[in-house]
Amino acid sequence: MSTPTTAHPEASAGGSVVLEAEGVRKTYRMGRVPVRVLEDASIQVREGEWLAILGASGSGKSTLLHLLGGLDRPDRDGGVVKHRGRSVSSLRGAALNAYRNRDIGFVFQFYHLLPELTVLENSMLPCLVPRNRLSASLSLTAALVGTVIGAQLGWLFGDVALPAADDATTARIALVAATWAVVGAALGVLCYQGFRVIMDRVQMKGSPKARYARETLADFGLAHRLQHRPSQLSGGERQRTAIARALGNEPPILLADEPTGNLDANTGREILELLKTRHANGLTIVMVTHDPKVAAYADRVVRIEDGRVLEDAPTDPGPSDHGQSL
Ligand SMILES: Nc1ncnc2c1ncn2[C@@H]1O[C@H](COP(=O)(O)OP(=O)(O)OP(=O)(O)O)[C@@H](O)[C@H]1O
Ligand SMILES: [Mg+2]
Repeated sequence: MSTPTTAHPEASAGGSVVLEAEGVRKTYRMGRVPVRVLEDASIQVREGEWLAILGASGSGKSTLLHLLGGLDRPDRDGGVVKHRGRSVSSLRGAALNAYRNRDIGFVFQFYHLLPELTVLENSMLPCLVPRNRLSASLSLTAALVGTVIGAQLGWLFGDVALPAADDATTARIALVAATWAVVGAALGVLCYQGFRVIMDRVQMKGSPKARYARETLADFGLAHRLQHRPSQLSGGERQRTAIARALGNEPPILLADEPTGNLDANTGREILELLKTRHANGLTIVMVTHDPKVAAYADRVVRIEDGRVLEDAPTDPGPSDHGQSL
């Protein structure tokens, strides 16, 4: 599985800056003790390039990648992360979700696959997530409709069974109607959830997103593992599923945290070759690693030590192509 590729032309031409951290500081708190993890860290990622963030364990690589991916924020007054010149650090709510879902794909250091979902379902997660808000509104609507219908029916049946002769009987009818309203609300939500499960199944099978997910998984050599759950996969297969998921919405930028960190050398090389092919097709990649051999696959390496960016230099492409040394 070794496809020699060249860097995307944009990268060698020095494309425009798509993602950058400007003087970023990040401090965690352990109880009352502040733990400074990043200090005045600045990097720029250009369109179409493959950037490696290289550093020892605990140097702040994951933290920096999380800030770039909008999964965490810098300290207040601790610099800014920008995507195409727009501050990511100040995004909130739907705008932040849209950034995480469409503008970038994120590969976590420890996969973070959902154990109860199959390979195909996991890889389609980013396509399903944006519907959550709509889904909550529809669920609420179904509950309200169920409440109204339940109350109406409850009142009707109560009225027939207990002809309202006095206030006490009317109160009992109201109680029956209220009970039916609650039952109606629950039934409304249940019907809606059932409908969603069916629609999700339909979407998993026939939508363009599902086709794209299947194609990506097939590209990654997982066509025969679509119905497997993460616990039934090898480490390399889990990582390929995680990368397929990150690419599910066809984001232009991939942020990958130690994509080969938990894999043997051969499997790691396979993963890097996959990334290389995607990179050759225009994907911008920011990859975190502690391994200089893995970093050699990138166009450029940023070294980080104790939360400070030390060095920002192009990798030596070697005699023929970059990244052949792993
Ligand atoms: N939520 C947190 N609270 C407190 N300290 C944290 C938290 N997250 C990370 N740290 C600390 O910040 C430092 C940097 O963590 P980070 O995960 O960014 O390192 P890393 O370079 O990715 O390391 P590794 O290569 O082992 O994954 C570590 O010393 C870690 O203990
Ligand atoms: Mg890490």
